[in-house]
Amino acid sequence: MVLQRTVFFVTYAMALAFACFLCAVDSYDRPPPRKNLFVSPWTMIKILLLQNRGSGFMFYVCVHISMVGQDKMRISWITGSHSPATVDYGTSPGAKGFSATGTTNSYRYLTYKSGEIHDVVIGPLNPNTVYYYRIGSNPGPEFSFKTPPSSFPINFAVVGDLGQTEWTSTTLQHISQSNYDVLILPGDLSYADLNQPLWDSFGRLVEPLASQRPWMVTQGNHEVETIPLLHSKPFTSYNSRWRMPYEESGSGSNLYYSFEVAGVHVVMLGSYTDFAANSAQFKWLQADLGKVDRGKTPWIVVVIHAPWYNSNTAHQGESESIDMKKAMEALLYGARVDVVFAGHVHAYERFTRVYNDKPDKCGPVHITIGDGGNREGLATKYIDPKPEISVFREASFGHGQLQVVNATHALWSWNRNQDDEAVASDSIWLNSLPLILPVNFRRNLFQLI
Ligand SMILES: [Fe+2]
Repeated sequence: MVLQRTVFFVTYAMALAFACFLCAVDSYDRPPPRKNLFVSPWTMIKILLLQNRGSGFMFYVCVHISMVGQDKMRISWITGSHSPATVDYGTSPGAKGFSATGTTNSYRYLTYKSGEIHDVVIGPLNPNTVYYYRIGSNPGPEFSFKTPPSSFPINFAVVGDLGQTEWTSTTLQHISQSNYDVLILPGDLSYADLNQPLWDSFGRLVEPLASQRPWMVTQGNHEVETIPLLHSKPFTSYNSRWRMPYEESGSGSNLYYSFEVAGVHVVMLGSYTDFAANSAQFKWLQADLGKVDRGKTPWIVVVIHAPWYNSNTAHQGESESIDMKKAMEALLYGARVDVVFAGHVHAYERFTRVYNDKPDKCGPVHITIGDGGNREGLATKYIDPKPEISVFREASFGHGQLQVVNATHALWSWNRNQDDEAVASDSIWLNSLPLILPVNFRRNLFQLI
């Protein structure tokens, strides 16, 4: 009996040691949180002074660009004092040849008063072309951007919940090294969280990238910024600073819109504005999806903030996930949407094609990419066992790349920031749904909704 027990315990101990060894081999050391960054105005002034000694320029910050239709670009920036909303631009260094004028606004938030926020739409522009531009009719630094291509291939960088930490900095560095045409951000930009100077800091942090390629964003919960009794108007800073092309897609709100680029129809939805079946957003979405011509735009991509599918323990049971999915999933399914990107959960997760919680070859691939690097850190706990519909999940910081090669094939890859290098940890080839189903069949289904 004693011998039997001894053999049992020795065997058990060896099995345990072997299991621990396997775990040690397989486990991934999650990176710890990194410090918050604050890009101070003084830091920027010093950089600009060094870059432009003796040129007498006016101080401006937070330069970013966004697409307006298929051949125009909105240039946005902020000045500390009065300055004209004008942009000079051209296809050669010197930014000569064309000039455009736009609008200026500002906002107050408690005791904070923003600088002058300028928006100027320029164009028509040629596709896949580098343009040089100067803002505010001053001899300050010259910026440049490249317009997206008008046909395939096109590359999207996708990153959510960016924030402004040292991890954000690493993510931005990796994105800048990629050959992307348009950046898509599924909400939670600055993590200013009522502290308005952090919006300025965020604008300064992303300016080197956002002034060179269009950044198309939608809002998350961190953009709401209401305070009971003191500031009841939501999205004050977001709407003032990040104006998107909503009028051009027939939307009445900056919180949801669509745009088309090189054969891809991208729908940016608002998880924190009304999405019920009788809401303005729902009706707009129905009309927008109904107008999509899959012959012209074979791909449909939808962007939300709170994920409809999520096997992380974080953010379970929230109305913006459950009720929005209940209201809108059939609409997306009927339109044969290819991919849905979400943020909110600070981790990466890719689902199979799914509809109504079950694998479905006509449903979209859902991808959570809320791991840009914000100060709240990673969401490290997952529901076990892993649901059948969840294909890949990992709590690491990083970003994604959607390379739409042609009308039928796209390569999705997720690049984590492990060891400070962009490592492609998950990748999959996607087929567009019109390839899988005849377009007429899809149209018939959509009419049933
Ligand atoms: Fe969020």
